[in-house]
Amino acid sequence: MSLLDPTWSALLYLVAAICFILALKGLGSPKTARRGNLIGAFGALIAVVTVFLSSRLENIPWILAAIAVGSAIAWPIARRVQMTQMPQLVAMLNGVGGGAAALVALLELDHAADWWTRLAIVLTLLIGAVSFAGSIITFSKLQGIMSAKAIVFAGLPVLMGLVILAGIAAGAWVVVDGPFWAAIAVLVLGLVAGVLLVLPVGGADVPIVISLLNAFTGLAVAASGFVLGNVLLIIAGTLVGASGTILTRAMASAMGRSVSGILFGAFKGGSTAGSTEASDRPVRSSSAEDVAVLLGYAQKVLIVPGYGLAVAQGQHTVAELQQALEARGTEVVFAIHPVAGRMPGHMNVLLAEANVPYESLSEMSEVNPEFKTADVALVVGANDVVNPAAKTTPGSPIYGMPILEVGDAKQVVFLKRSMRPGFAGIENDLLHEPQTTLLFGDAKDSLTKVLSAVKGL
Ligand code: TAP
Repeated sequence: MSLLDPTWSALLYLVAAICFILALKGLGSPKTARRGNLIGAFGALIAVVTVFLSSRLENIPWILAAIAVGSAIAWPIARRVQMTQMPQLVAMLNGVGGGAAALVALLELDHAADWWTRLAIVLTLLIGAVSFAGSIITFSKLQGIMSAKAIVFAGLPVLMGLVILAGIAAGAWVVVDGPFWAAIAVLVLGLVAGVLLVLPVGGADVPIVISLLNAFTGLAVAASGFVLGNVLLIIAGTLVGASGTILTRAMASAMGRSVSGILFGAFKGGSTAGSTEASDRPVRSSSAEDVAVLLGYAQKVLIVPGYGLAVAQGQHTVAELQQALEARGTEVVFAIHPVAGRMPGHMNVLLAEANVPYESLSEMSEVNPEFKTADVALVVGANDVVNPAAKTTPGSPIYGMPILEVGDAKQVVFLKRSMRPGFAGIENDLLHEPQTTLLFGDAKDSLTKVLSAVKGL
């Protein structure tokens, strides 16, 4: 017997759905993201408790044991994960979600009385399996378990076509007749399709595909809602599907790419990976004291944070530098590129951690005209997002990506460790321009030295 009557459970599902929508709204801005996340988690808690109270569940000890094991694995991982490893974590969690939806659908096949439910089962199996297998590959690429480069082999498009056709045929069989072995075939073909879909995606495009697979998981979950007759799963899945699609498009356009180009570009033979060779062309380097003088006597400084700031964990020191410069009367603004770092909003999160006021952050379109009036552009561990090759070199992996117009500033200072290129693996001509100076070293060390020199001015 269930403890809640259907009206109460419908009402609680409605509350959970509203929490999910408010969570998404909160996640839209760094100021409200933490609260949004908590509201979403609260909604999920309401949903899980409602299922326990309103359904006639069997195997409750097994369910509780599974929840305990899942929590025991997830809790320490989530606590330990570095901010720079967040895309891998998202890929893994997302893949597990798709896989779970597929397994649930498989087990429901026995109870599927009509072709409509079996169609929903086929869609859940296929999309969930693609998402699971694709996410494992993206995780492996980002974690360095396998090469992050695009992997293409002769016959890949043909193989992909055959797998899709076989998947459709097996799926049709399940819908018409419902044999278990055909459902297993759909699952296996979905797994193979997921691997083949992601193998040819390389380099900077991998996180975009994670977001796309996230949207796939949402669709799989929504389809599983039809299988189980659960409205909340349909709502939650649709929200994930829609928001994942919007995020995918936003990331792709911020990198000057099209989603189809990312997925199918490599089939045509193009690779997005560059080199990691260091350039040996001459550059002008200087000391922390010289950089401190440049900054300390400037009226306006634009700081461009990038992936290297996150690696060095220099966010607190750069925040202190901002305060020290502002105390001297210098105007300081952080110029934020939408794909700086390795995940959407990476720089916003990093700077929020160091309590940099939101008013000091300026998005690319807003800040770009400001570089012309800046005395110094201080580039801290960023490279691709300021590389003029994105505008001047057709064929370069970043060609077409909008960049921060750092070259317009009177002086440009790069803090980096070596002459190695950034993520896209291409040289940055800006490093060799006459107005550019380099301060070599770990970003946090360099910032610490510059900060103490600024305080001593
Ligand atoms: P990158 O182009 O990757 O450049 C990072 C720079 O930081 C490099 O010049 C590196 O030079 C330097 N660096 C690394 N560790 C450092 C340290 N400890 N101290 C000082 N410098 C350090 O970064 P970006 O400009 O932020 O661009 C992001 C790139 O990632 C883009 O290509 C983007 O498309 C791609 N991407 C973005 C995302 C999202 S959604 N944000 C997702 C995936 C990929 P040294 O090695 O010489 O120090």
